[in-house]
Amino acid sequence: MARIEKNSFVVEGQVRDQVRERYGRIAEQSSVDQQASCCGPNNAVSDCCGVDTAVNIDQIKMIYEAPDATELPAEVTTLSLGCGDPITLAALQPGQTVLDLGSGGGIDCFLAAKRVGQTGRVIGVDMTAKMIEKARANKVKVGADNVEFRLGEIEHLPVADGSVDVVISNCVINLSPDKEQVFREAFRVLRPGGKLAVSDIVTDGPLPDAVKQDMAAWAGCIAGALEVHDYIGAIEAAGFVDVELTPVYMDKSVIDDAVEQLQLREIVSEDDSLYHSVFSAKVTAFRT
Ligand SMILES: C[S@@+](CC[C@H](N)C(=O)[O-])C[C@H]1O[C@@H](n2cnc3c(N)ncnc32)[C@H](O)[C@@H]1O
Repeated sequence: MARIEKNSFVVEGQVRDQVRERYGRIAEQSSVDQQASCCGPNNAVSDCCGVDTAVNIDQIKMIYEAPDATELPAEVTTLSLGCGDPITLAALQPGQTVLDLGSGGGIDCFLAAKRVGQTGRVIGVDMTAKMIEKARANKVKVGADNVEFRLGEIEHLPVADGSVDVVISNCVINLSPDKEQVFREAFRVLRPGGKLAVSDIVTDGPLPDAVKQDMAAWAGCIAGALEVHDYIGAIEAAGFVDVELTPVYMDKSVIDDAVEQLQLREIVSEDDSLYHSVFSAKVTAFRT
């Protein structure tokens, strides 16, 4: 299996700092009357991975098939920054141990916690201290005793080998400067037979170099997106089998909003490949 050609513009430490800075700011600024999300409808949606625009709970309804997503406290839904519904994809069972990569404010951890019940447990890992603080406060608000949040990088998971039944993630892996390492870590912590169920941004075709070089576009979930075949290749290279990647509809307006909010208009025209290539996908794979 050929290795992914690394984005030659990317300096790993710089990406991590930029991403941490952005999500720290979002965590700090979040409030119950401000919501940010990813793949919502055309009015007032933020770029994928959230920014400062107020959006409506209807956008959570659009992203999640899970009907209880909108029933969580506003402190949680306000910090929903995903691009899909890994909970429905994961088809969780009572008693399972679930790990959420890049758990943010905790929305998917709390939904998972309900499904695995008191005999199961959920671990959320995030590298942004302010996000972890918010998630821990949200845990108290939700009363989710079977959830814990750990500060750490998804490339170096603070989780024991073979201890997890299902790894979920929502709009995070595209942000990593080393996706192969993320999938290796997911494989390491899963038990044999364990499942990977993630929502993420990928591309069909290469992104313009000017976009790939833009750190704000990376932190905004665009520049770091891999081409589909590289994304699948990275999962397979980690040892996973039965990899399935299904595109999820993404409105042009979502890209428009991201382009505006990330101030990419000067480097991206409306007929640019960005418009034809970036999309949200749901992905499953298994550890044998
Ligand atoms: C777009 S938000 C998604 C949050 C959450 N999954 C959701 O759906 O609301 C990305 C989150 O991933 C975290 N993150 C990004 N890169 C990470 C990395 N390499 N290691 C750990 N956390 C990371 C960020 O701090 C942020 O909280």
